[in-house]
Amino acid sequence: MYKTHRLNKKTNEDSIFASRDSEFILPKYKIPKGESDPKVILEVVKDELFLDGNARQNLATFTQTYEDEEIKEIMNIGMNKNMIDKDEYPQTAEIEERIVYMLADLWNAPNELTSIGTSTVGSSEACMLGGLAMYYRWKEKRLAEGKDVSKPNLVTGPVQVVWEKFARYWGIELREVPMEKDRYYMDSESMLEYIDENTIGVVTTFGLTFTGEYEPIEKLSHALDKLEEKTGLNIDLHVDAASGGFLAPFCAPKIKWDFRLPRVKSISASGHKFGLSPLGCGFVVWRDEKDLPENLIFHVNYLGGDMAVFQLNFSRPAGPMLAQYYLLLRLGFEGYKKIHMNCYKTAQYLAKEIEKLGMFEIIFDGDENKGIPAITWRLKDNANVTFNLYDFADKLRSRGWLVPAYSLPANAQEIVIQRILVRQGFGLDMASLLIDDIKRTLKYFETHEVVTHLTQEEVGNINHNGR
Ligand SMILES: Cc1ncc(COP(=O)(O)O)c(C=O)c1O
Repeated sequence: MYKTHRLNKKTNEDSIFASRDSEFILPKYKIPKGESDPKVILEVVKDELFLDGNARQNLATFTQTYEDEEIKEIMNIGMNKNMIDKDEYPQTAEIEERIVYMLADLWNAPNELTSIGTSTVGSSEACMLGGLAMYYRWKEKRLAEGKDVSKPNLVTGPVQVVWEKFARYWGIELREVPMEKDRYYMDSESMLEYIDENTIGVVTTFGLTFTGEYEPIEKLSHALDKLEEKTGLNIDLHVDAASGGFLAPFCAPKIKWDFRLPRVKSISASGHKFGLSPLGCGFVVWRDEKDLPENLIFHVNYLGGDMAVFQLNFSRPAGPMLAQYYLLLRLGFEGYKKIHMNCYKTAQYLAKEIEKLGMFEIIFDGDENKGIPAITWRLKDNANVTFNLYDFADKLRSRGWLVPAYSLPANAQEIVIQRILVRQGFGLDMASLLIDDIKRTLKYFETHEVVTHLTQEEVGNINHNGR
């Protein structure tokens, strides 16, 4: 501990910054020997966190950065309720079940009461569970037919890193359909090229992390129907609706992406993204109980009944899930629609303003019928500028804005794009301030030629694609 010169004798009336404990540089890598004044330490920790970015200016993240006072109260109530103690907290367990039914209904399950699901810590855990169920269904069917199960593969479009993790952790070959120039999603033709009898299923993303666009799920599903007619191969779909699952039902209900398509056996989504709940909340729902293999389920007894549990995690605070319940009841269908449509409006305003600047080509313009409230753009090939998008992102950070730039995955890796995600709390007024800063930044680059460009590594991996 580095001790500064002691100025005053300690008195009980010392204010925080006159106190003994505020006179030290606190140890960073070893637990201090003695106790300290809680008020002082709270201030020290809070002050250190000033060095973090401002969450509301983080236009990279998909997760919520705004919460009202009621949510804070619910989070407090849920802090010491452990989700896994179903016996001790049966009402919490009941509320979790109600949300699963509500989501099954929102996602058009044929009968929400015979679908099954769970809350999770986020989409990653939900995806893992959806993937595992797919793997087990495939494996059990193959074993029953006396067929080889040693070479499972998973076919996907351009996915978030969780699916790369899923494949590596469970020993499954990931067949990620590569992008092409001007096709930044998986289409039916390319998907079919990657499928064979060892395909455990197809994962399609409803709200691609890279561009914000929805994949054409209905078309993919029909292509799989035709494949089955032709070859007998019956391939299931899991929809990673991390963002879109809480958007399209309110803002673009005509898009058929969910359990209306019989081939969709499971859907995962993030409560803590457009479900608007605070961090730590996701869901996975299966179309029907029979789509969740019994081998993945553990049974606990509570209130004399039987409760199926199938999460990867054991202990978990109930707060985020209870906040989700509060939000579903408080906002209702209309409330969600209003909040999300405001986000789309802001995204569309940004797309227009950025296009007007002349040097950028808009890739996705925040159309609610095509994707999530996000916009993505790239530099035009003939743009007469000296900066690249990494330089641009870096300069915007000097005003606190986090607007990530990143290269697309194979086979479009030479294309660098930039993305803004619009969430509640980033309205038109804030967006107009961002546009002012973008214009100021461009002006700066007019007079400050960039001689050495930054790289993706140098500006950091802050894009939430996870790679
Ligand atoms: C499509 C998609 N799937 C999965 C995830 C992982 O979600 P989480 O951060 O909730 O684990 C993300 C995160 O952005 C995503 O966009």
